[in-house]
Amino acid sequence: MSEAQVDQRRKDGTLRHLLTLEHLSRAEIERLLNKAQSFVRPLGAPPPTSNTLAGVTVANLFTEPSTRTRVSFELAAKRLGADVVNLEVQLSSRVKGESMLDTVYTLQSLHVDVMVIRDAEAGVPALVAGNVAPHVSVLSAGEAHVSHPTQGLLDALTVRQHKKRFEGLAIAIVGDIRHSRVARSSFHAFRTLGVADLRIVAPAVLMPEEPEFEGCSRHTSLAAGLKDVDVVMMLRIQKERMGQADLPDADRYFVQYGLTPERLSLARPDAIVMHPQPMNRGIEIASDVADGRQSVIRDQVRNGVAVRMAVLADVIGSRSSAT
Ligand code: NCD
Repeated sequence: MSEAQVDQRRKDGTLRHLLTLEHLSRAEIERLLNKAQSFVRPLGAPPPTSNTLAGVTVANLFTEPSTRTRVSFELAAKRLGADVVNLEVQLSSRVKGESMLDTVYTLQSLHVDVMVIRDAEAGVPALVAGNVAPHVSVLSAGEAHVSHPTQGLLDALTVRQHKKRFEGLAIAIVGDIRHSRVARSSFHAFRTLGVADLRIVAPAVLMPEEPEFEGCSRHTSLAAGLKDVDVVMMLRIQKERMGQADLPDADRYFVQYGLTPERLSLARPDAIVMHPQPMNRGIEIASDVADGRQSVIRDQVRNGVAVRMAVLADVIGSRSSAT
């Protein structure tokens, strides 16, 4: 089942689920970014808290490993006053669609209102969204190689904080684009928000098939891809989504595609460097760059909690009138 078969919106047009950014309008994305920005605080300041989600229960249902996404969904829900349960389904007993639905029905009987789902199998978030009761919302926390909508939103928020506007920007997404759900969701956000010069940079084997990433220029040369860009987004090689034979040699990959300070100097002098993490230092990015002056990688993590608060508040806040 593809995500497109499940409508993310309620009949009144409000957002009920968040499975993909692909069909969201610019106004919808901007509304979520503005809401998220209102939850951002400087490091050291107390995080914002409220009781907006008092009485609401959020379940994190993750069948793939996660650090930042799971913790930030949990903190986001708690800071809005929700109850949270975390189910970490072991990879060894990976559930197939049907047994996943049994878990979901159980959670629903326990009065869970929001299911946050990460799964290695494409279509699982949509399957769940298509089968839950009308008051329940499903949020994707990463679906196979297909989508990772809250990551796309936090990437857009990070770019907006540093560059103010999207028009006129040149953004390069670099690395294992073929297997990356982050690349797909960030691409959807950037395209909808009006970025005109979007580039994907990868060795031929890690390039996605056409017509995906429509409108992006494609580069196998890192130097050409980075020339004068405002934003460089590096990606991890998704080893878990490829066979042993397809795995690039780490040393050779770093020589050709690793982001070093010299390579970064091809971008604009005020370019920012992003990475969704986990990072492989010395494979896709040099430590000097990851920890350097142009890196906004830690801002991305901070923005992750704010974006997840915004999405939770949005889907729950708009629910009562429509269900
Ligand atoms: C990413 C993911 O899981 O897709 N991590 C994250 O959520 N920040 C990226 C990755 O695993 O490479």
